[in-house]
Amino acid sequence: MKLLVIGGGGREHALAWKLSLSPRVHKVFVAPGNAGTALECGLENIAISSIPELIEFAKHEQIAITVVGPETSLAAGIVDAFQAAGLKIFGPLQQAAQLETSKIFAKEFMQRHHIPTAAYARFQDPVLAHEYINQKSAPLVIKADGLAAGKGVVVAQTNEQAHSAVNDILVEKNFGSAGYEIIIEEFLHGTEVSFIVMTDGRHILPLATSQDHKRLYDGDLGPNTGGMGAYSPTPFISPSLHAQIMRNIIYPVINGLKEEGIHYSGFLYAGLMITAEDQAKVLEFNCRLGDPETQPIMLRLKSDLLTLIEHAVNGTLDKVDTEWDRRAALGVVMAAHGYPENPRKNDVIQGLQNLIIDQENTDNFHIFHAGTYLGGKDEKEIITAGGRVLCVTALGENIKIAQQNAYKLIEKIHFDDYQVRHDIGYQGINYQRKK
Ligand code: AMP
Ligand code: GLY
Repeated sequence: MKLLVIGGGGREHALAWKLSLSPRVHKVFVAPGNAGTALECGLENIAISSIPELIEFAKHEQIAITVVGPETSLAAGIVDAFQAAGLKIFGPLQQAAQLETSKIFAKEFMQRHHIPTAAYARFQDPVLAHEYINQKSAPLVIKADGLAAGKGVVVAQTNEQAHSAVNDILVEKNFGSAGYEIIIEEFLHGTEVSFIVMTDGRHILPLATSQDHKRLYDGDLGPNTGGMGAYSPTPFISPSLHAQIMRNIIYPVINGLKEEGIHYSGFLYAGLMITAEDQAKVLEFNCRLGDPETQPIMLRLKSDLLTLIEHAVNGTLDKVDTEWDRRAALGVVMAAHGYPENPRKNDVIQGLQNLIIDQENTDNFHIFHAGTYLGGKDEKEIITAGGRVLCVTALGENIKIAQQNAYKLIEKIHFDDYQVRHDIGYQGINYQRKK
């Protein structure tokens, strides 16, 4: 069986790698992929990006199922187009992906279905937005309505920061049409976690829990990024909180969409704030897997991912279950100099080949690539090509040991001026220590 994965980041490397381990799969194409997917056994990159060409390719190669990684492809309607061409694809339709592509759609949907989330107001007029800020006072969170590659959210600790975010988005139009309208949200205190499920539109299969680290620097300081590291499972989601999240958030979302005539099939990611009272509130929805959460989650998944996706596409997700490695997995992102504002490209990465040879047990870790390509001498060098470069992901008996294992691997990898956080997993480790 041949499969196709759309995207070229760490999430897609992890997805394609996991799919390639299925005994029924003999090839996974990745469009466009990266150096990691180019080098991985059973994977092959294809340099195609337009939807009509991808459809042509899928027909020609008789691709059994296509799996979509990034939100931009979902927003562009790739699922609608593949389905119209009679091809099997896993991901939500464009209309359903509004849960991620429009923050206003998501907020109003949550309000209609009584899904717990921060209080908010929406604005097109900057004058009214400024008045609202003066009335409510910081901390407040300002969000551009549309997709802004993770940059359209400002957590304003002061009124000045909030006013300046409004000017940035509504007056200077720095986010183009994504910033035609904004929401201003109540600031929620608590611990942030990621909760990801698969759904066929009727049945829901939760994946293992995880926690991302969005800020660039240790101790959750510095600018927001796409995510600097993640681990799974997170102790912050106890069995009773898990049940609460399914009952108050996940089921109401899927049932609410169904009631509104929107069929949702795909991965669904809820970014949640767990309050001091152990109540989960939604920060955002993503209509795809998280990056870097996918990397530790896939390293722990023991079930055959292809089987899960087949059931999801065929509407029989109630017939399968997931099996997880009981150990923790933890992934640390190695990012380029200048990330997230102005990442530098074209630095040569050293140490990756030796790493595989040196390690006694290569089943206990995986280096997932994101912004990398093969170039240089004989096209054999691995070179940086973007902000997040690698996600070094390791298993361990607990989060602390998985953390130690990941950082030991990082010591063997080098490219100039790379940035890493040194404390990925710290909240989970501290939580477990206190228990
Ligand atoms: P979003 O893209 O909506 O998830 O926002 C990006 C990041 O901003 C989140 O991961 C949170 O760290 C933070 N954030 C968003 N909304 C809120 C909120 N209402 N209260 C506190 N922090 C928030
Ligand atoms: N790790 C956060 C995201 O994928 O949006």
